Amino acid sequence: NDEIFKNVISHAKEYGFVFQSSEIYDGLSAVYDYGQLGAELKNNLKTYWWKAMVQMHENIVGIDAAIFMHPKVWKASGHVDGFNDPMIDNKDSKKRYRADQLLEDKIAKYEKDGKTDKAAKLQADMDDALKAEDLPRLKILIEEHEIACPVSGTRNWTDVRQFNLMFSTQFGAMAEGSDVVYLRPETAQGIFVNFLNVQKTGRMKIPFGIAQIGKAFRNEVIARQFIMRMREFEQMEMQFFVRPGEDKKWFEYWKEARLKWHKAIGTAPEKYRYHDHVKLAHYANAATDIEFEFPFGFKEVEGIHSRTDFDLSQHQEFSGKKMQYFDAELDENGKPYGNYVPYVIETSIGLDRMFLLTMINALEEEDLSTPEKQDSRTLLRLHPALAPVKAAIFPLTKKDGLPEKAREIMDQLKFDFNCIYEEKDAIGKRYRRQDAIGTPFCITVDHQTLEDNTVTIRHRDTMEQQRIEIKDLHWTIESKVSW
Ligand code: GAP
Repeated sequence: NDEIFKNVISHAKEYGFVFQSSEIYDGLSAVYDYGQLGAELKNNLKTYWWKAMVQMHENIVGIDAAIFMHPKVWKASGHVDGFNDPMIDNKDSKKRYRADQLLEDKIAKYEKDGKTDKAAKLQADMDDALKAEDLPRLKILIEEHEIACPVSGTRNWTDVRQFNLMFSTQFGAMAEGSDVVYLRPETAQGIFVNFLNVQKTGRMKIPFGIAQIGKAFRNEVIARQFIMRMREFEQMEMQFFVRPGEDKKWFEYWKEARLKWHKAIGTAPEKYRYHDHVKLAHYANAATDIEFEFPFGFKEVEGIHSRTDFDLSQHQEFSGKKMQYFDAELDENGKPYGNYVPYVIETSIGLDRMFLLTMINALEEEDLSTPEKQDSRTLLRLHPALAPVKAAIFPLTKKDGLPEKAREIMDQLKFDFNCIYEEKDAIGKRYRRQDAIGTPFCITVDHQTLEDNTVTIRHRDTMEQQRIEIKDLHWTIESKVSW
């Protein structure tokens, strides 16, 4: 499984999907850049989400809020005081660790060694300590269980301290009284503070949703597993505003709807599972994760949270502005529901994790061996709608007017589809390169094309080749790559 993951990382780099940020300066930890194909795939994932959430739901609209927000937003949301990780330093190696992660690793070790009772006991002790935010207790657990620093091997630990995950920066050029602003750690708050703006100007009636795609920033202390845990990442979030008392029903609705979305893109259903939270955040009355089986185990890709009226009520209190909705509909007693602070169901998916999942799921080494000859090809079996390039256009040779004809076809198609023109290398090699980046169609122009306006179209998955008329190219591609 390590091997699979390594292959995905090197494939992503080799073909221009993902690069390390500032690579020529040896990179910046947990920050990545999307290359020419990665940017396309990422855009296609965003489109898939946006169409499913905004375009297909008449009662959901999308916004694009700023990354900078008033500092009070994060006070109200609880992030200034509560968005922390408990950290501990090893005095010898000067390495910093998440205290709960050290304990989790120990629990995993106990389980591996068959010491299930010990594992369960430590898990329970840790959960209690985390819940009570009892930092000294976390340190005691680390000491009691003789956890050593993986680097120095010593048990010379500092105390456990809370470490806030928000990045901050100075706003404006004011020297004195200059305000610290935060880079948003989630996009959701941009939706909450705009709740009434959107509701009034869009004349939205409850239940309704507001969706958003955008960057979020977290100073993750443990950054690992490539684009799984980044310091700058992208979220696709939707807040669905409902009547109090109807939150459970909508939570179930979105839980199911979101898993359907994942499965509809062709991922094997058994790769997904729900993980219901037993321990809930202070603002939630129900929460579940949609997990995907990565090569390193089942991990969260998306969270669905029933956030009650916590956020809107907090903003009402901190801003002094009413965050209420007037519901004119009649209840079972024939009375209008009247004014209330709506309850919220949130769906929150990490775009980068979705990207990683998509690459892992699609990359395959296909065995093409025959009794006579050993052969294989690297294939990125992406859903055609997600493929970064929809069609590659090849002149068979670089002469006899074939490049000109191929360019003509390219010009006809490129307005509607992302196409690539390629004349270098033997045709077989060109096909394999497109297989490796997931291009569903390769179109080859040869001498016969000049006579009868037909081309060869090759299908990625079957490698089947067909002779078709140039005028049929557009709908052939369209029928496969459209949503
Ligand atoms: N508004 C709710 C919220 O932000 P979250 O569980 O903290 O909830 C939602 O984050 C999703 O964002 C996660 O399921 C994950 O896919 C993604 N995510 C969170 N932290 C991330 C990080 N450091 N790097 C990449 N993706 C991350």
